Amino acid sequence: MQKLEVFGANKLKGQIKISGSKNASLPILAATLLSRKKIYLKNLPRVKDIETMASLLQSLGSKIKFNQNNLVIDNIKQRKSFAPYSLVKTMRAGILVLGPLLAKFGKAKVSLPGGCAIGTRPVDIHLDALSKLGVKYKIVQGYVHAIAAKGLIGNKIRFSKISVGATENLIIAASFAKGTTVLSNCAIEPEIKDLVNFLKNMGCNIKWISKRSVKIEGVSEVKEITYQVMFDRIEAGTYLVAAAVTAGNLKIKHIIPKIIQTEINTLKKIGAKINVKKDEVHIIGNKKIKNTNIKTAPYPGFPTDLQAQIMVLLCKANKQSVIKEDIFENRFMHVAELNRMGAKISTNGNTAKVTGNINFAAAELMATDLRASVSLILAALTTKGKSVINRIYHLDRGYENIEKKLKKVGAKIRRVN
Ligand code: EPZ
Repeated sequence: MQKLEVFGANKLKGQIKISGSKNASLPILAATLLSRKKIYLKNLPRVKDIETMASLLQSLGSKIKFNQNNLVIDNIKQRKSFAPYSLVKTMRAGILVLGPLLAKFGKAKVSLPGGCAIGTRPVDIHLDALSKLGVKYKIVQGYVHAIAAKGLIGNKIRFSKISVGATENLIIAASFAKGTTVLSNCAIEPEIKDLVNFLKNMGCNIKWISKRSVKIEGVSEVKEITYQVMFDRIEAGTYLVAAAVTAGNLKIKHIIPKIIQTEINTLKKIGAKINVKKDEVHIIGNKKIKNTNIKTAPYPGFPTDLQAQIMVLLCKANKQSVIKEDIFENRFMHVAELNRMGAKISTNGNTAKVTGNINFAAAELMATDLRASVSLILAALTTKGKSVINRIYHLDRGYENIEKKLKKVGAKIRRVN
């Protein structure tokens, strides 16, 4: 199994170009199932989750050709509606094919995603909402067997809880339902807005009618399109934290700064100097890091996908900080590893008390999930000596060319088998 060796301490200096968004690409790829025309997607990150989603679509009969960060997908002959556990278990976003398959075929057999390190990852909100579009389903041996005998029928649906995936699944499904659907209490992450833009470009009829409500008039035909996926705001946030924690000086390019305003405000509060341009954020880290309290929340709140990263930064703050993880039930898997590097973090339920003034010590470490693994790299960059991070397949799910990007700005990091 591959691992990463990091020889700290490094101050990061230079420019980093941000890749396309994994979490926008995944629902957009699933939504291509609605079409019987060719679709050209640009700016996809070449990361494991994208390859897995492409394999899932190919197992359903899609023809896909990659050309670096672009792909053409042809669903003209796509007929199958069975998504196997073998593909869905490694990437929970596989459940996102359920909505489009039901919209297109009126039936689907999709594996339940199963849990992961950060939580049980249920899909009850997806299934309750789909049943309000006329879907009947039963769970048999870990699979959702779903059928919409009369096709999907538009309806008014209020999500019982804000869910990114359920919002995406329902927007895609309702785009091909008969009649009008109004979804309320929606998640409004930028990736969802990107999905809606993609669907509207294809010819779907979708309109935001309030902050968290969207109205969808079902259509039955869409057209051939080319679409460029948005930037990865979590990757951008990760490198902003990397600059802050190494007291470095980085220009993060190819982004839309206002989309990460919450992260920028938080980093300024902690003491980083930040200048914003049209498609770039220039951050200069400060040796003096101020403590602050963080509570993760649905967009536009502080993203749960940056919680592990900001925790590393707050270990180096002048005083104790408190982090509340309000989205997932078990997203502190990185705490044990950071404590092995000398951090003093205590957790009680979904609250972590982060002692400040910590100097990390290099160590042999174990990655547990995508964002936890990158937080270990950030900690390793701040300390003298060689740290080794095992199980970096977690990292490869969501960070494109991370060693290359970090090496280019001064990190001493290498991948070893
Ligand atoms: C998406 O996951 C992202 N994944 C996650 O990013 C991100 O952390 C999460 O949204 C929150 O922003 C992708 O976009 C592929 P949710 P998703 O449905 O859709 C509970 C990463 O690192 N819930 O908003 O699964 C759920 O357990 C990944 O890139 C139900 O109870 O998130 C969680 O506690 C990690 N029932 C909360 O809601 C449901 O039916 C939010 O989940 C669905 C969700």
